[in-house]
Amino acid sequence: MTKLSSQLLEVQQHTTKSVIDLRSDTVTRPTSAMRKAMAEAEVGDDVYGEDPTVNRLEASAARIFGREAALFVPTGTMGNQIAIKVHTRPGQEIICEERAHILDWEMGMPALFSGCILRTLRGDDGILTWAEIKRKIPAYSYARAQTGLIEVENTHNMAGGTVTPLEIMEEVCNAAHDRGIAVHLDGARVFNAAVALNLPVADVTRKFDSVMFCLSKGLGAPVGSMLVGSRSFIDQARSVRKALGGGMRQAGILAAAGLIALEEMPKRLPEDHANARFLADCLARIPKLRISPEKVKTNIVIFDVSETGMTSEELLLRLRSQNVMGSSVNQSVVRLLTHMDVTRPDCEQAAEIIRKLCEA
Ligand SMILES: Cc1ncc(COP(=O)(O)O)c(C=O)c1O
Repeated sequence: MTKLSSQLLEVQQHTTKSVIDLRSDTVTRPTSAMRKAMAEAEVGDDVYGEDPTVNRLEASAARIFGREAALFVPTGTMGNQIAIKVHTRPGQEIICEERAHILDWEMGMPALFSGCILRTLRGDDGILTWAEIKRKIPAYSYARAQTGLIEVENTHNMAGGTVTPLEIMEEVCNAAHDRGIAVHLDGARVFNAAVALNLPVADVTRKFDSVMFCLSKGLGAPVGSMLVGSRSFIDQARSVRKALGGGMRQAGILAAAGLIALEEMPKRLPEDHANARFLADCLARIPKLRISPEKVKTNIVIFDVSETGMTSEELLLRLRSQNVMGSSVNQSVVRLLTHMDVTRPDCEQAAEIIRKLCEA
């Protein structure tokens, strides 16, 4: 058995025991209401536009976001890449934060599929302001690649679930639009951002040309993400989805769970945020960890483990042997996410195990 497969086996064994799995909010399992809705879903062929449950999900997303139309896509990655394809032309630049998901975790697809390069900049806590972005937009010259798109990630995953304030997002959108540049929101966790901002998602996202959000993260659906935007954007997106092999047939089975995720689950996100803050406060009492609990506004907690003498991977391996799972941002930073399958006592227990490992 290779090292990798023995590690995978170990992970599988852990996930069947009672594990506190804080790796991601993608690990949630569908609720019994979701499973029942999936079993009973009315379906048709969605490539013909005939799946009533997918149509209901798309109509519901468009209504909740105050937009003309929406499109069900299998993954957030596909949603982001479709948006990039629709908004850009080959040879253009896309401005994004340097830890953006579209850069680090989407397989170079902006280059591969849309022929664009990413022009990155670092934002404090992952937050990009117009003052910083505008310095990256080249003046027009026949010899320079032009900016085709600005991409904002809210909440920002790798910066620790941070939330870009509404005024900053709106300034970016207004100023970009004045220059004829579209702005796409990677809102994989935009419902978490909306809870933190205490605003409806429609208000948080109204200025963006397109929004991708995930049903399969904190909202708990087993599969699926959505794109929302104008009718014309969604019509083009539907065709790009097909080109990517994302035309799904009786997808109402998945959309049925997605409808519950979209309509019922956002209201429980404050619990995840409170658990994340609780976890962060516990970790802040461990002298060898560097963490700013006041920055934890949503369901992601990041902390630096350099002073423990362990790398993030070493700490994670030790945690795993005690049935706690997390993930790493880099060599020294660990990331833990709260979600509907972890409780307050789980967070307390995880923090206690981390404390003992750090003090050992
Ligand atoms: C910020 C962000 N965008 C996009 C995605 C992609 O979603 P998916 O895993 O459904 O492709 C993720 C997934 O973790 C994410 O965190």
